[in-house]
Amino acid sequence: MAASPSPTLSRTETLNLSGLAVVCAVILTRSFENGEGEPLIASLCFSGLAFAASYAMIRWLGPTFVNAGLKGRDMSKVNNKHYLPECMGAICAVVYLFTIIVFILIPFYKDIVVATSGGGNRDVVMNIEYVQRGRLLHKFPHSKLASFLSAIISLHSITILGFGDDLFDIRWRHKFFIPAFASIPLLVVYFVDFGVTSIVLPTFLQPYAGRELLDLGVLYYVYMAALCIFSPNSINILAGINGIEVTQSIVIAALLALNDILYLTTPYPHPATDSHLFSLYFLLPFLGVSFALLAHNWYPARVFVGDTYCYFAGMVFVVVSILGHFSKTLILLLLPQIFNFVYSTPQLFKLIPCPRHRLPHFNARTGLLEPSVTRWAPDEQPHPVVVRALRLLARLRLLSLKEEQGLVQESSNFTILNLWLVWRGPMREDRLATEITLMQLVLGLFGLVVRHKLALLIFREDNLDLRSVV
Ligand code: UD1
Ligand code: MG
Repeated sequence: MAASPSPTLSRTETLNLSGLAVVCAVILTRSFENGEGEPLIASLCFSGLAFAASYAMIRWLGPTFVNAGLKGRDMSKVNNKHYLPECMGAICAVVYLFTIIVFILIPFYKDIVVATSGGGNRDVVMNIEYVQRGRLLHKFPHSKLASFLSAIISLHSITILGFGDDLFDIRWRHKFFIPAFASIPLLVVYFVDFGVTSIVLPTFLQPYAGRELLDLGVLYYVYMAALCIFSPNSINILAGINGIEVTQSIVIAALLALNDILYLTTPYPHPATDSHLFSLYFLLPFLGVSFALLAHNWYPARVFVGDTYCYFAGMVFVVVSILGHFSKTLILLLLPQIFNFVYSTPQLFKLIPCPRHRLPHFNARTGLLEPSVTRWAPDEQPHPVVVRALRLLARLRLLSLKEEQGLVQESSNFTILNLWLVWRGPMREDRLATEITLMQLVLGLFGLVVRHKLALLIFREDNLDLRSVV
């Protein structure tokens, strides 16, 4: 049975969290002893501190959220009369934002301005080689601060939207485009700092196009804004069983971090080092707060994450991938979310009725989850074309469909969670969450292999191997 968490930490929890916080604080202080600190080590320490702070605050503030009306019933439990705190992702988002804001103090070095024509113009900025010896790692020039701040603004905006959604249950069609506004600071910085809007054409298309690069111009910005809309919403609709919102986000963040590490561990300084460091600085604290949330949201859930977490997580991925210039890699890691979205479109666009909740149906007798269904009354049958499409999908094993005397009775809801249950049969909630998470992990790893190895079949080079240009 799911029960609200105790608002106090146990003795063991207090000891463990305090121990972690002390270790992180000591390593953080030590990292400054050699002069200016090591941002990557500091980022790891901040992530540990963010974990401890989120973990404790989720416990302490749970009852406050319930009293404020932010609560929900776990629909997949036998005894679900208790309300669980909802919107706990807001705590993670706030702890995360504070962590990132304090972290600003660390990775930037001071440029030496040797000439200025006044009016705040920094005409000649001496390069890092003059101020610092050794490999160009860990430290950012001041210009990177714009990226950093724009990322924070975007994440703030999306957190406000998510919180508003948790408070007021904003309608889908109203909230859908709001992430596009949150993307504006990101896109402006992308335009000013980087501005690349061309894509490399696959080698087999190059002879026809007569060129290697295709400039998408303004369409590239439309694509990035679309990614800002898609990513947060796609996490929010792959939801409804304990833990799944957080585990999918942890897998995506961990794979993005793994991809970053590949660029930092090349045997020569890679030109994209800064972009991938930037990404790691944003992903590590995200992993910290997410693990703290998972500890409370995993089956049997003691808290719900809320839309705030889903939007916030989706936006973290977009922020790092746009400002780190690897948005196409993110798309490879979002394959299950893309499938879930495309598969959901008949219900999202109301071709087929979409109930308020599409999460799998809990069978209290067996204790297992089954696909949830949309029922069709005899006098409200779907359009004949829709019936044909439903039958085709059922034949392809992409749907479960019940018909009697030529009348459609029920069809399973169009989500990947229900489809998985159609394929694999009824199962326990935690097992479903584990299987979907593993599927996300396997597909993601495959996506990374495709990105770095198989891509060579259709592109001239993988940008991880850029020895020639260094
Ligand atoms: C999205 C999905 C909806 C799904 C819901 C579940 C679409 C278009 N919308 O809606 O189909 O039912 O997420 O999160 O696909 N809950 C549980 N167990 C869980 C998680 C949530 O019972 O493990 C219930 C709780 O009552 C909780 C509520 O779902 O209070 C949260 O739903 P909410 O996030 O507000 O739904 P949406 O994001 O609007
Ligand atoms: Mg939700």
